[in-house]
Amino acid sequence: MTGAASPAVEARGLVKRYGEITAVRGIDFAVRHGECFGFLGPNGAGKTSTMKAIYGLANVDGGELRVLGLDARTHRREIKSRIGVVPQEQNLDGELTVRENLVMQAVYHGIRADGRIDELLTSALLEKRAEARPQELSGGMKRRLLIARALVNEPELVVLDEPTTGLDPQARRAVWGQLDRMKARDHGQRRDRDRGLARRAP
Ligand SMILES: Nc1ncnc2c1ncn2[C@@H]1O[C@H](COP(=O)(O)OP(=O)(O)OP(=O)(O)O)[C@@H](O)[C@H]1O
Ligand SMILES: [Mg+2]
Repeated sequence: MTGAASPAVEARGLVKRYGEITAVRGIDFAVRHGECFGFLGPNGAGKTSTMKAIYGLANVDGGELRVLGLDARTHRREIKSRIGVVPQEQNLDGELTVRENLVMQAVYHGIRADGRIDELLTSALLEKRAEARPQELSGGMKRRLLIARALVNEPELVVLDEPTTGLDPQARRAVWGQLDRMKARDHGQRRDRDRGLARRAP
C-alpha cells in the first residue's frame, strides 16, 4: 500500500550496525507526506546511517523501515526510483559538465528529461554554468547542483544529508530558497490532486 494514508517514512526499532559498532540503536519515527522532517544529533549520532538505510545505501540490520509504504529491505530498487538523494559527501562526476551530471541522472533513472533539466538548472541558478565542470563551481553552487540532481526523477520524497553545511549565509539562503520552492510546488500538486479526488468522490 503506497497511498497517502501510510507515512512517507516509518521506522520501528530501526537498527544499523557496522561490525562491532551499532550506529543506530533501535529508533522509531514517522515522517508524514508533505512534511519537512530533520534529524538532529552530534557527530556520529547515526543521522547519515539512518538516511542511508532510507535511500538504500545501507542494509537494515534490525527493526522495520518502510519508505513510501514499501519495505526498505526488499524494495530498494523501487524506492530508489521514487526518491531523490543529496548525500553528505558530494559525489558529482568531475569528468562531466554540470548539465551532463543531470543528464546522467536521467539516464540512470531511464527517463527523458530534456526540458526538465533546463528548468532544474534555472531553479538552481546554474543556467549560466551549465557547461562548467563541478570542480569549477563554488561550494554553494555544488550543493545547489546536488539538489537539482536529486530532483531529476520528480521524486516523491527527497532525503538531504546536511545540505547547507559549510555554506556562507548567502549560499545557505539560496539552498533554502530552492527547497522552499520545491515544497510549495509539492503542496500545490497535493492540493490540486486532493481537489481532483474530491470532485470525483460521489
Ligand atoms: N561505513 C562505515 N563503516 C564503519 N563505521 C561506520 C561507517 N559509517 C558510519 N560508521 C560509524 O557509525 C556511527 C554513526 O555514523 P554516522 O555517519 O551515521 O553519524 P552522523 O550522525 O551522520 O554524524 P555526522 O554529524 O558527523 O555526519 C559512527 O560511529 C561512525 O563511525
Ligand atoms: Mg552525517
